[in-house]
Amino acid sequence: MAINPRFLDELRNRLTLSEIIGRRIKVTRTGRESKACCPFHSEKTPSFTINDDKQFYHCFGCGAHGDVINFLMQHDNISFIDSVESLAAEAGMQVPEQSPQEVQKAKEDKDLYSLLEDATLFFEGYLHEQRNNDALGYLIDRGLTNETIAEFRIGFAPDDGQALRKFLLAKDYSDKDMIKAGVIRPSTRGGDPYAFFRDRVMFPVPDRRGRIVAFGGRILPEHMRPPQRGDFVPPKYINSAETPLFHKGSMLYGEPIARRAAADGQSLILVEGYLDVIACAQAGVRGALAPMGTAVTQEQIISMWNMIPDFTKVPILCFDGDNAGRKAARRVSENILPLLEAGRSVSFAFMPDGEDPDSLIKSSGVKGFQNILRGSISLFEFIWNAYIGGREFKTPETRAGVIKQLENEVAKVSDNDVQMHYKSLLRQKVSETFFKRKDFKSNNKWQSNNNKGVGMTPPRPPAHQARAARLFPCILLAGIVNHPYIFDNVEDSLCNLKIQDVQLDRLRQNIISILSDEPITKHDILLEKLKNLGFTQEIGDICSESVYVHASFCSPSAKQEDVQSQWLEYYNDGNAVGFGEEIKKGWQSASSDEDAKRLMDLLYATSSDGETL
Ligand code: UTP
Ligand code: MN
Repeated sequence: MAINPRFLDELRNRLTLSEIIGRRIKVTRTGRESKACCPFHSEKTPSFTINDDKQFYHCFGCGAHGDVINFLMQHDNISFIDSVESLAAEAGMQVPEQSPQEVQKAKEDKDLYSLLEDATLFFEGYLHEQRNNDALGYLIDRGLTNETIAEFRIGFAPDDGQALRKFLLAKDYSDKDMIKAGVIRPSTRGGDPYAFFRDRVMFPVPDRRGRIVAFGGRILPEHMRPPQRGDFVPPKYINSAETPLFHKGSMLYGEPIARRAAADGQSLILVEGYLDVIACAQAGVRGALAPMGTAVTQEQIISMWNMIPDFTKVPILCFDGDNAGRKAARRVSENILPLLEAGRSVSFAFMPDGEDPDSLIKSSGVKGFQNILRGSISLFEFIWNAYIGGREFKTPETRAGVIKQLENEVAKVSDNDVQMHYKSLLRQKVSETFFKRKDFKSNNKWQSNNNKGVGMTPPRPPAHQARAARLFPCILLAGIVNHPYIFDNVEDSLCNLKIQDVQLDRLRQNIISILSDEPITKHDILLEKLKNLGFTQEIGDICSESVYVHASFCSPSAKQEDVQSQWLEYYNDGNAVGFGEEIKKGWQSASSDEDAKRLMDLLYATSSDGETL
């Protein structure tokens, strides 16, 4: 929509720049000029100046510069049109519309916005009435502060189906508009229309400019308000139906706050519900957004990308860690592939069993939640793992089969450049996984000495040796998982390490591929990624005191500066005696006396508590 420049001048003239800015950040006036700490970069002494006469602001620190419309665009992270409309509303002006129909529609919309605003005020007021102490108490018990309740404008809808209607009728709104706005519905029994939301905690849904366009309503828990009809279980949440202002599939709950957070460089995070968004924001994770009662749509993903001002746009999508969550993530990933473009993707974070972001923040603090977020895996990793993770492909046919399936997935990427990179990454992963398992040293003495006969089985090693042999890779893997910063210097050895146990070997391969993609120095981040890839059990096995007691360097509490040298020493010693090979070969390979002694030392050193593995 082109806007008449005369209108824009008029708008700028009617508004006082320092006042508009002063409503959003703290401004101090010094004569004709005002100053503030720049909202667009971080600083302690103000270098952001506002000149009301010239109608522009300028920051001597970061160079931010513009007029009132630019300010709002940048500060609220909104478009030009949205900024103009928002300012026009503040100035009490009407943005000129092109056609009479548009004028009419704008007028009707405006009535609906104000109707919904009044309904919101009504619900907010009602929550704070004495008789609704239990509802307010419920929110407080769930950990919401009064500031949060006010910021999200949480309210309560009376049980009386006529209360809101009477309130709005008294303000001259018609039944027709109330129905159109979705706050009442016609009676099927010929009576008066009645409230859509009754006896529910109300979450007003703001659009990107903060105007309320819909509501979500949650019932109070049963012990507080048992359902009136015993046989009927009301839905926990109900949401406004589609209205001219509310399009469920394209909107996200939490948008105005998340937009500002994105402009401040915070990540956008998709969570499941109202209370997750609210709990995140209260804990300082202000980029949280939620779809309203439906699976996330393509439009919502695009909308999240558009909220992120940087070139690289990778919102984090949170899912439950259970099977249902993984399935949901699969469906979403399929829908996103055709949308990918340079710089645009998503990543996936899986919540621990039975937790959602709200409960996780409560149980493990915001740090615990952020750890899960930092361990999020890329879209590619997620798809790869959905096909490959935790499975074995022993025959050429099954291998070719799964590769074909992955190729079909990659073909869904419609952007050519992005698809090319997906293809190349896929080739690389396929060759790492299926072709490049470098053979460990072939100077295997058992094989070369034992030329007496093919098919002869070597003697079985005693049980405690087998246990010690299994400990060997566990200790090395624990070492790298707990101290990923040594990766660069142990990478070759880790690539050469042979592990018989299929799952442990898969864990090894995944560690290599994660750490060679990006350096990770903090072990909790690597741990999260591995858990997200389905290695929770293996991690539990190796990262345990029963492993650490055998080699203290692999424990998380080891002295960082010693870890790398001890890891390599242990690796080399173990290989010298054949632990890097299969134990049965290794046992035999210890042909010299010296080797035999080292093997015995290693066994004694490692099998003192041999029953644990
Ligand atoms: P959940 O039902 O998974 O959330 O709904 P929860 O964590 O148990 O709920 P709280 O924390 O006790 O309040 C998650 C989201 O799914 C939608 C709502 O948007 C809700 O926030 N939902 C859920 C519905 O729309 N209708 C329902 O009946 C249930
Ligand atoms: Mn919840």
